[in-house]
Amino acid sequence: MTDWPVHGTISGPIVMIGFGSIGRGTLPLIERHFKFDRSRFVVIDPDDADRRLLDERGITYIQAAVTRENYRDMLKPLLTKGDGQGFCVNLSVDTSSLDIMEFCREIGVLYIDTVVEPWLGFYWDTSAGAAARSNYALRETVLAAKRRNPGGTTAVSCCGANPGMVSWFVKQALVNIASDMGLDFEEPKTRDGWAQLMHKAGVKGVHIAERDTQRARNPKPANVFVNTWSVEGFLSEGMQPAELGWGTHEKWMPENGRTHESGCGAAIYLLQPGANTRVRTWCPTLGAQYGFLVTHNESISIADFFTVRDGSGKAVYRPTCHYAYHPANDAVLSLHELFGNGGNLQEKHHILDEHEIVDGIDELGVLLFGHSRNAYWYGSQLSIEETRQIAPYQNATGMQVTSAVLAGMVWALENPNAGIVEADEMDYKRCLEVQFPYLGPVRGFYTDWKPTDGREKLFPEDVDYSDPWQFRNILVR
Ligand SMILES: NC(=O)c1ccc[n+]([C@@H]2O[C@H](COP(=O)([O-])OP(=O)(O)OC[C@H]3O[C@@H](n4cnc5c(N)ncnc54)[C@H](O)[C@@H]3O)[C@@H](O)[C@H]2O)c1
Repeated sequence: MTDWPVHGTISGPIVMIGFGSIGRGTLPLIERHFKFDRSRFVVIDPDDADRRLLDERGITYIQAAVTRENYRDMLKPLLTKGDGQGFCVNLSVDTSSLDIMEFCREIGVLYIDTVVEPWLGFYWDTSAGAAARSNYALRETVLAAKRRNPGGTTAVSCCGANPGMVSWFVKQALVNIASDMGLDFEEPKTRDGWAQLMHKAGVKGVHIAERDTQRARNPKPANVFVNTWSVEGFLSEGMQPAELGWGTHEKWMPENGRTHESGCGAAIYLLQPGANTRVRTWCPTLGAQYGFLVTHNESISIADFFTVRDGSGKAVYRPTCHYAYHPANDAVLSLHELFGNGGNLQEKHHILDEHEIVDGIDELGVLLFGHSRNAYWYGSQLSIEETRQIAPYQNATGMQVTSAVLAGMVWALENPNAGIVEADEMDYKRCLEVQFPYLGPVRGFYTDWKPTDGREKLFPEDVDYSDPWQFRNILVR
């Protein structure tokens, strides 16, 4: 495609916080799809590794870290310079999404991020208990801000690929299976309507089922953590407790499973790191696989969104929901090395850029399971080859994220007074429409696979054959 559509005008300044793998990839999409004032486009990052890309475009670069102490003073003049409404695009690690989002809303500036990121130190605080270090806790802080100040300037929370785009996939997948089942339904217009439809379709659970087959040109050296996106981001979330939206059909919980004492109640956590927690799942290209149950915001937000409650507020239906991530092989090896070495993090990190990858796809979708058609995967099968042709400075993993940021920005411009929103609450059709040119093939597949397949051939196992879709069968123990 050469005639890229211009989706809107950003009338005020654009401030991008963080210029790592996602920031770099988002830049050409902003340039391509928005009208904006280049003289008021500012990027802030303490690391100047890629400042050349900004210098050659005449975009202002500020070499600094946004911190708890300086964020108001640093951001206000940049975001309010001149006329129009500013847009803050937060693509950084170690900056509090909540504080920056609330500040942007205070000064009437649009805001988007891809994760509820805390200030530096949160993830590695050994004095905080597992519940305090959970995504559930982080998400509850955003929900509380939304309750404190309903409506107002739009701030889009967690709008990357996952969290983000996958919430749009869940709705499309649900509509597809409901139609294929011949259910009598109209497309829902409310949260409750969506939850009722999921219930009616008999979906027991949702995996965010991802297989990254991108292969590096050079084999991974010892003691280097290699990944296809932020190593720091992956390590932070990987060392949080494993967390999952907890379905009403579940009959068994692991001994180290814990519920939360307050909040929406949609999720549980395990007293073990997600990056060392394996689950059985399925993706179309390679079929059955192990994935890591790394905590993610969408595991909780999707389970919460699709909860059906009775008159007393009791949850009568909720799907189980969690991430089941098979990262690139080098990242799997990196995790093996890390946990084998007493959980000591490798000092060297490396993010594979688009030139270092020989081939592969990032197959990222949602697996809706436990219904009358067994299981259905719907998602993107974007390859590195196609990515290289569509936009610069990113691999396939990055493009699924950056195009979701683009879609979220378009939605925010079109809905500037929607308050704080999660991807589940946005118009999934509009967002996917913006994103589709960047996702490669987006397709749905039914499968007969069940997590009870092939079990107990040589050794006894604890398997519940009466309901294959119990977490008891999905968790690798
Ligand atoms: N939702 C999703 O699908 C998704 C996917 C990938 C990444 N992410 C998130 O996006 C963020 C960025 O990911 P990435 O792959 O670009 O990471 P990255 O590690 O490549 O880049 C992060 C950048 O932030 C900069 N930074 C660090 N501290 C900063 C500070 N205090 N102020 C300003 N900049 C600072 C770093 O120097 C770095 O350039 C992470 O939080 C990650 O978890 C979300």
